[in-house]
Amino acid sequence: MLLHLPGVLEPAQVRAMRATLDAAQWTDGKQTVGPQGARVKHNLQLPEAAPERRELGAQVLAALARHPLYHPAVLPLRALPPRFNRYEGGGHYGFHVDGSVMALPNGEQMRSDVSCTLFLSGPDEYDGGELVVADTYGEHEVKLPAGDAILYPSTSLHQVNPVTRGARVAAFFWIQSLVREERRRRLLFELDTSIQALTRSAADGAALLQLTGVYHNLLREWAQT
Ligand code: NI
Repeated sequence: MLLHLPGVLEPAQVRAMRATLDAAQWTDGKQTVGPQGARVKHNLQLPEAAPERRELGAQVLAALARHPLYHPAVLPLRALPPRFNRYEGGGHYGFHVDGSVMALPNGEQMRSDVSCTLFLSGPDEYDGGELVVADTYGEHEVKLPAGDAILYPSTSLHQVNPVTRGARVAAFFWIQSLVREERRRRLLFELDTSIQALTRSAADGAALLQLTGVYHNLLREWAQT
């Protein structure tokens, strides 16, 4: 499931983040991938230990936690602190699959189930730079307004097209979900969305309570902590 989260950040938040990021020291993005990834990855990244990364990353996670679609769609268990990247001057990242198991700052490991990219440049600021996600239904090009995010399964092949004008700045990170299987997360998301819509309508209270029970009991069946 490819899910667009509109308006994760307010325009003022995007401007403040961009001011910090535009003044930051960037490094070669090859530093956080293995040799196979290094052959196709041509971008800049905020260094892992950069002080801006921790502060802005916390702001990104807090903004997503407040977004009404994030929790129902992701059912997050743990997340890698967000990273920030910058593509310019033909920068691109050819088709690849992200790492399946990643080290958290506390030394524990997490499985990547859901990938998230938060756009910090508006589509008018650069040419190219589309995120292309390939799934069983074909390839999908994603280029969103600044402050919007896209969620996609970490199992997907994906790439970032060359940026031929301007700069594309984004935050990205991975989440381990309580529910590992994408098809189950999608069913739970659709059920949750329906329950929320029924709650806003004058639906029968007893039936709604039963349906809410079904949601939680399915989640209990499928959740792994
Ligand atoms: Ni990737």
